[in-house]
Amino acid sequence: MITVTVDLEERSYPIMIGTGLLDDQALLGKSIPTRQIMIVTNDIVAPLYLSRITSALNERACRVVVLPDGESFKNLSTFEQILTALLEARFERSCTVVALGGGVVGDIAGFAAACYQRGVSFVQIPTTLLAQVDSSVGGKTAVNHPLGKNMIGAFYQPVTVIADLNTLQTLPQRELRAGLAEIIKYGLIGDLRFVEWLEAHMQQLLAREVDAIAYAVEYSCRAKSAVVAADERESAARALLNFGHTFGHGIEHALGYGVWLHGEAVGAGMAMAARMSQRLGQISSADCERAVALIASAGLPIAPPSNLDSSELLTAMLIDKKNKKGRIRLVLMSEVGRAELCDDYPSPVLTSVLEERLGSR
Ligand code: NAD
Ligand code: GLY
Repeated sequence: MITVTVDLEERSYPIMIGTGLLDDQALLGKSIPTRQIMIVTNDIVAPLYLSRITSALNERACRVVVLPDGESFKNLSTFEQILTALLEARFERSCTVVALGGGVVGDIAGFAAACYQRGVSFVQIPTTLLAQVDSSVGGKTAVNHPLGKNMIGAFYQPVTVIADLNTLQTLPQRELRAGLAEIIKYGLIGDLRFVEWLEAHMQQLLAREVDAIAYAVEYSCRAKSAVVAADERESAARALLNFGHTFGHGIEHALGYGVWLHGEAVGAGMAMAARMSQRLGQISSADCERAVALIASAGLPIAPPSNLDSSELLTAMLIDKKNKKGRIRLVLMSEVGRAELCDDYPSPVLTSVLEERLGSR
């Protein structure tokens, strides 16, 4: 097992990464030390992994909320369902909320943990690649609103993250690819050498070879932890982690939550951001093509869906937490392995990128 620490002084916490962690009852018992425990999961993950957690905690007052699966259920109604369960069980402020599942479960459960009695202990047990490399780390919690994605939420850090790589073996291939989008993001925004590593190891990652997956998860957690430690509340550097996300959230929102996976929308969004960077003269055509080829090599889309028109996409992008004074702020590339925040671009360039369709999906 490898431990990566998110360094936030008195709120620092470990990300434990390894194989077979959910079979280690002592580790689970020690990592979730409270008497009252509310496990939040969904109807896909519960039959696969829930019993491992409950049997490790068998002496405790353990309750479970099983949510319906899917991004379309990341909303105020499922958030309320968790709070109702906590109240009905008369859980005290000393309880722990445990998220067992992907980013959807983690984001809703974390927001409930942040709000119940103004904040109770929160443990993340991420079971998707995307959640292990991104959403379980850094304390962003949220639900969607019909008017905008992740628009209601809180910064609320977990006390522990337990990432068992074995859980990735049951993940559908489409979900694995979606997780690769966030891994590629760390390379494109921050590290040319990691881009080179990804170019050389994409087939091993797609084949779920344990050494390659373990390296990618550890690298991603270290990269994200460093950014979060420097800028927990996204006043500057953390915004770069949204590379591809302004376009991507626009796609998710305009299509309807859950039609494209979050990671698929981020894949297309990163390709669009690369194209925009090239049209603004910030990167060469060769660098743009290199970025797009890496995204495509993971089997991710590299253009928005053909049934969305550019004005729908633009309208959806106008609701974004990075926007200032009504202006869409974008994370763009300045070279392969470096990115910056940009709001000073000619609007027709953005429109031309939104209009481009490659028939890629
Ligand atoms: P998800 O939670 O919907 O999980 C993907 C699918 O895999 C679901 O059907 C789920 O039930 C299933 N699943 C989960 N674990 C499984 C396993 N081990 N085996 C088989 N099936 C399994 O999606 P996701 O990609 O994990 O997360 C996407 C969400 O994360 C989005 O809502 C996105 O906004 C959010 N997100 C949040 C942050 C953050 O910093 N908080 C960062 C990135 C993404
Ligand atoms: N996923 C972007 C962030 O955590 O800041």
